[in-house]
Amino acid sequence: MSNILDRFRLDNKVAIVTGSGRGIGAAIAIAFADAGANVVVTARTKEQLENTVAEIHKRGQKALLVVCDVMDAAQREALVEQTLAEFGRIDILVNNVGGSGEIKPTLMTSEEELEACFKFNTTTAFAMSRLCAPHMAKSPDTGAIINISSVAGHLAQPGFISYGIGKAAMNFMTFNLAQDFAPKVRVNAISVGSTLTDALAGIMNDDLEKAMLKNTPMNRLGQPEDVAACALFLASPASSYITGEIYGVNGGLTKTPMEMPRSTF
Ligand SMILES: NC(=O)c1ccc[n+]([C@@H]2O[C@H](COP(=O)([O-])OP(=O)(O)OC[C@H]3O[C@@H](n4cnc5c(N)ncnc54)[C@H](OP(=O)(O)O)[C@@H]3O)[C@@H](O)[C@H]2O)c1
Repeated sequence: MSNILDRFRLDNKVAIVTGSGRGIGAAIAIAFADAGANVVVTARTKEQLENTVAEIHKRGQKALLVVCDVMDAAQREALVEQTLAEFGRIDILVNNVGGSGEIKPTLMTSEEELEACFKFNTTTAFAMSRLCAPHMAKSPDTGAIINISSVAGHLAQPGFISYGIGKAAMNFMTFNLAQDFAPKVRVNAISVGSTLTDALAGIMNDDLEKAMLKNTPMNRLGQPEDVAACALFLASPASSYITGEIYGVNGGLTKTPMEMPRSTF
């Protein structure tokens, strides 16, 4: 029997990681390079992507930098075309771009804000999955799509109406695509808890940190590498019998990590 750790390798695979200029996406792109993949790094800010590319090169792997706003259909198509032109195959897609937008009560949230948040978190992942899955199906290996979701998709909390709906939809999309694309492409999601990135730093203060730690049994905030380790498992042949699952990387959270204002009547 071969060494079980060989199943965690991504040698010769090509991965697209959206939003890989910083935070969780950058950690995933670098982890995939550690495991032997060539990685397409993509976001809107070229300078940040260059940092990720440098880390991938340090690991002896190839990187393709594509500046792309995933909200734009033509730019998404160009991203996939450039990937195929450079590497000739796509094995792994990580739909990492997303976020909460402004956190505020339902009665202060407009229909336009709800729809924009849904598009940012869910429609872009749907569109990227539709573009990539046919190319994954042509590959001799099984493809893997990994959706980066959030505890906000299943723990209801005031303030997160748009984000919660977007990530809950992403979770259901994961179940649905897994059934639709099997056995050629596996589709799984990671339900992320409070993780130290720029996005979290933007809303962090001492009170919030205390509240988060109080509700997190593992008594610490997450690091991007905690999510990257799970993404590596879900991208690799180690998880070849797993599809349609949502893995929690959240320190054991079972209740909402923070208190936000409710709607006032
Ligand atoms: N951090 C947490 O606590 C936490 C918790 C639960 C879930 N998550 C989820 O984890 C994912 C990553 O979060 P993060 O905290 O790592 O975020 P982050 O630090 O803000 O990084 C987001 C990445 O996405 C890129 N991006 C943003 N808008 C984009 C667009 N329209 N087109 C292309 N790229 C875009 C950003 O680069 P540019 O701005 O240069 O484009 C950046 O590279 C998100 O889906 C988020 O919902 C995070």
